[in-house]
Amino acid sequence: MTTATARAYPNIALVKYWGKRDSTLMLPLTGSMSMTLDDFPTTTTVERMPAAEADTFQLNEEAATGESLRRVQKFLDIVRERSGSTDFAAVRSRNEVPTAAGLASSASGFAALALAASMAYGLPLDPAEVSRLARRGSGSATRSVIPHFAVWRAGDDVTSVAEPIDAPDMRMIVVVVDAGGKEISSREAMKRTVLTSPFHDAWVTSTELALDSMISACADQDFTRIGRITETNALRMHATIQACDPPIRYLAPQSVAIFDRIRELRDAGLETYGTADAGPNVVAIARPEDADAVAQSLAEFGTVRVMAPGPGAALLSDSDAL
Ligand code: DP6
Repeated sequence: MTTATARAYPNIALVKYWGKRDSTLMLPLTGSMSMTLDDFPTTTTVERMPAAEADTFQLNEEAATGESLRRVQKFLDIVRERSGSTDFAAVRSRNEVPTAAGLASSASGFAALALAASMAYGLPLDPAEVSRLARRGSGSATRSVIPHFAVWRAGDDVTSVAEPIDAPDMRMIVVVVDAGGKEISSREAMKRTVLTSPFHDAWVTSTELALDSMISACADQDFTRIGRITETNALRMHATIQACDPPIRYLAPQSVAIFDRIRELRDAGLETYGTADAGPNVVAIARPEDADAVAQSLAEFGTVRVMAPGPGAALLSDSDAL
């Protein structure tokens, strides 16, 4: 089959990936751990075009150009190298993340593309291999191949893949903060952190420890420890990023106010913890039975969405092709 369609969902890290050891092979400096979400998927069809002279990429029914086209083409070069095929491809994607939701789509996007391209080009379809391939598109995509909870090991080119990990059921309450203004991409900011942040080494050692503790907290089904590790790790990442030269600040005043509210809720007996990626949005985690109360208490700060652990990347039938 030379045409294939796959779907994958975004993920939010509880122990963050921030910094590359090798930016060609996309190897991270540390391992990380995440929850895959159950909404906002990306669906992607890859159609091999033996007669075409270049790859094309259509996103939400519009032809992509510039950097986003270039990233897809570079990714397909790796697929061609692995498969031995020289065929170009037509890639069509539908991204269901509302533009204002502020959830990065590179994780779901490259996880779906990795699986659809693997099928279309006859590459191995087991999750470890698809995860390894997705990594080359975007680091966080490595984890979106895996359902529910995933650990992505730092490893080397062969072993740097994500694997499932058992964790207690929980919900993520995504609070979308409208901070305006354009942010620097995580890719650029990561580079600057490695090169200029004096806290970078401490970030790496503390994240390695955080991942070990997270894995044991998950084994113990200990939500309290999971939450504490999550919030501490996220704030350490932001501290490390803020110490860049020139500085980068992703958290807006509203984001900080949400972290404060989360602590107040905790003090009042509603157990929830916060995290934030490379932007002003804050994601609270809570036990399933507490999620609605947390969502209500955070609604004044922005649009809130409650998300459960979601599916890994999956192939769809021909009738779902774009
Ligand atoms: C803050 O995966 O978007 O969300 O590998 O350069 O494509 P590239 O970066 P990306 O970075 C994600 C950073 C983060 C933390 C995380 O998801 O672990």
